[in-house]
Amino acid sequence: MNMHLTKSQIGLDGVPAAETVLSHVDGERGELIIAGERVGDLAGKASFEGVTARLWSGATGTTHSEADMRASLGAARERVFARLPKLLPATQGLSIVDGFRAAVAGLHGESGLDHEATIVGACPVIVGALVQQAKGQAPVAPDAALSHAADTLKMLHGRKAEARNAAALDTYFVTVCDHGMNASTFATRVVASTQANLFAAVTAGYCALTGPLHGGAPEPVLEMLDAIGTRERIKPWVDDALARGERLMGFGHRVYRVRDPRADVLKAAIARLSADGADLPFASEVETYVREALRRKNPNRPLETNVEFFTAILLDALAIPRQAFTPIFATARAAGWTAHALEHRCTGRLIRPSSHYVGKMPRSQSAMTLG
Ligand code: ACO
Repeated sequence: MNMHLTKSQIGLDGVPAAETVLSHVDGERGELIIAGERVGDLAGKASFEGVTARLWSGATGTTHSEADMRASLGAARERVFARLPKLLPATQGLSIVDGFRAAVAGLHGESGLDHEATIVGACPVIVGALVQQAKGQAPVAPDAALSHAADTLKMLHGRKAEARNAAALDTYFVTVCDHGMNASTFATRVVASTQANLFAAVTAGYCALTGPLHGGAPEPVLEMLDAIGTRERIKPWVDDALARGERLMGFGHRVYRVRDPRADVLKAAIARLSADGADLPFASEVETYVREALRRKNPNRPLETNVEFFTAILLDALAIPRQAFTPIFATARAAGWTAHALEHRCTGRLIRPSSHYVGKMPRSQSAMTLG
């Protein structure tokens, strides 16, 4: 009766919790399929708007075109921008990560827009406004004619983005827009399964994303690279951190037993972005040594580079402040969260697992159980 669950059981490792047409992670082969295509084929070919259209079409059975998506996300960005005076007071005194949560939680339906469009359109407006607010500046208005990625950079930096920077952010958005039953998507689906509205479901997803074991890792990745500082310090720094039992951010994954395929997509995007703007050689040296050290420390548990390592370097090269990395991740993942919530609404059921009680039984019950 009081036998404990295994670590894998507690983590629900490998337990399917939904049927989905949205994305598939094959951890043994290192493959991620989004809306029927490998992530490496999709990124660079499809735009964020195009992939979001595919996800929502798959989730609901109603066809969305890329052009319609571009128009509705542009309209949503403008609509949410007009609402900022009501959303921003709740973010006062909070970090960008927490302010984003408060503002997303304050969203509600906009007439003439689907809730999912409002949510996805709102994300870059909110993160842009929070970044400006942290500098003591007024929010920068969106431009509905721009792509979602280009407009995100405009609102973050207060000027029109160079085409290659917008293309790099678009590649990032496509690469991380959905990823099977990760923790934040599961949280989103659990809330959606109670028939709570989409705003509640996505707020739950974002809360799950903020933890360092999930989407909160890129900021600590940069902190790690800063702390290492020079090539000579890579080996001693990494060895000391592992000897202290620390987890190295940007490495390891619950599902992948080989390299996370998204890491290479982002590494290639960084290389395209700039030959000298991002410190890719130093980061690559750190990556090589960390992988070697992790293999030595855990020979039976493959721990490879995950998406967050190169996310940190790419977003830093785009001059996005590190405090905004998690909300920028959410800006992309909102496409997947909304699609999963919509899909669950169509095909799912209330998610209500059980727990394994290891506490005390009332005296009479113990007596009955024992005997
Ligand atoms: N650095 C050092 N050791 C690690 C790391 C790491 N990054 N990841 C796992 N390990 C070790 C664990 O300490 C454990 O060692 P032990 O058996 O001696 O106790 C062993 O590897 C197995 O670890 P698990 O806890 O079983 O791995 P799990 O599947 O729970 O962890 C996770 C996956 C949370 C991503 C983990 O690898 C980690 O903490 N990584 C660092 C944080 C990170 O990069 N997060 C982003 C993930 S990607 C994403 O969510 C978008």
